[in-house]
Amino acid sequence: MLPYGRQTIEDDDLAAVAAALRSDFLTTGPLVEEFEKQFAVASGAQHAVACNSGTAALHLAAMGLRLGAGDTAIVPSVTFLSSANAIRMTGAEVFFADVDPDSGLLTDAAFEEALALAGKYRREVKAAVPVHLNGRICDMRSLARAAAANNVSLIEDACHALGVTSVGANEFSAFACFSTHPVKAIATGEGGVVTTKDEAAASRMRKLRSHGMIHDASELVQRGEAFENGEKKPWYYEMQEIGWNYRMPDVLCALGISQLKKLERFIKRREEIARLYDRLLAPLAPALKSVPRGNDPHGLHLYAVLIDFEKLGTTRAKFMNALRAENVGSQVHYLPVHRQPYYRDRYGERELPGADAYYARCLSIPLYPAMQDEDVEYVAKTLGKLCGKAI
Ligand SMILES: Cc1ncc(COP(=O)(O)O)c(C=O)c1O
Repeated sequence: MLPYGRQTIEDDDLAAVAAALRSDFLTTGPLVEEFEKQFAVASGAQHAVACNSGTAALHLAAMGLRLGAGDTAIVPSVTFLSSANAIRMTGAEVFFADVDPDSGLLTDAAFEEALALAGKYRREVKAAVPVHLNGRICDMRSLARAAAANNVSLIEDACHALGVTSVGANEFSAFACFSTHPVKAIATGEGGVVTTKDEAAASRMRKLRSHGMIHDASELVQRGEAFENGEKKPWYYEMQEIGWNYRMPDVLCALGISQLKKLERFIKRREEIARLYDRLLAPLAPALKSVPRGNDPHGLHLYAVLIDFEKLGTTRAKFMNALRAENVGSQVHYLPVHRQPYYRDRYGERELPGADAYYARCLSIPLYPAMQDEDVEYVAKTLGKLCGKAI
């Protein structure tokens, strides 16, 4: 079976994890800081804050902006649940934006339209979450211009875009959020990272990921309780705002450090595979077309195609089942989040034709570094067979 994505774990990764397991630390230890340091180097970030999922990273970033009840954040509907859920976790509301029907990305036009509509409903839009779907980077320069003109801060959902340094370096955003879930560019099982240029926000997020606990004597406010003879009591800590347990354990940081060393190689291989698909699948147009990748650096997280199932006289479910019968995995990224019962109940029906058009046709096909050229050829041939064209 060729899955749509999978991790690449090698002997040195196993050795790194085994060494961490033999050390004194299973959860927070010296490897957390080391992972953050290496992640910052690899992603171009000034500050990298590790946590235990991409979802936690998005939630930390939303808290980093101090979003809360009464605030609204614009989120494109074609994304994973977390991009929206992280906003709701702060008590703020989500306003779903439409996306480009062919790339699935939040465009300036869709962003401006969402801003105008949210304004009509008297929503206080404080943030927006551009999602770099499949690894293609949104036009951040113009989104940032529109955001600044409207006093809106940007959180990049970069879970598909590790390796694109303008994103990691927060060239156009307050925060960028990454995931190290197994199908992503590097894998630690569960894991996430927030990058930012804001040192104070990074330091606050490090507290929020660990229950909001403060140990540093200079930051304590209950000084009468905290000190004895001018010295901080050895056990004393303070919680000044609510926090979570979003800590990334040392064992997973060991795997992350080891995987980061391979990031460039992994992305290079993903690019080779994507180019091979581009060439092999071109004759299947217009029934099946690759999602355009644009000219900018691309995270190459997913290889998505747009299929006219009706034209092929089939449905997506039948098509996916037929692929599966030939041992080819596929997945839909994503069911538009505004269609989820929770969000329908909360916000009512929304007309988002771009999201619907992208969703109706998209399918992610296998892409991961360990794929061989023969595997790519096999997937293309199988797709050709289902489209009635020999490749
Ligand atoms: C676009 C996007 N956002 C957020 C997430 C959440 O990341 P995680 O699964 O690490 O919580 C994912 C990963 O599944 C994702 O693909």
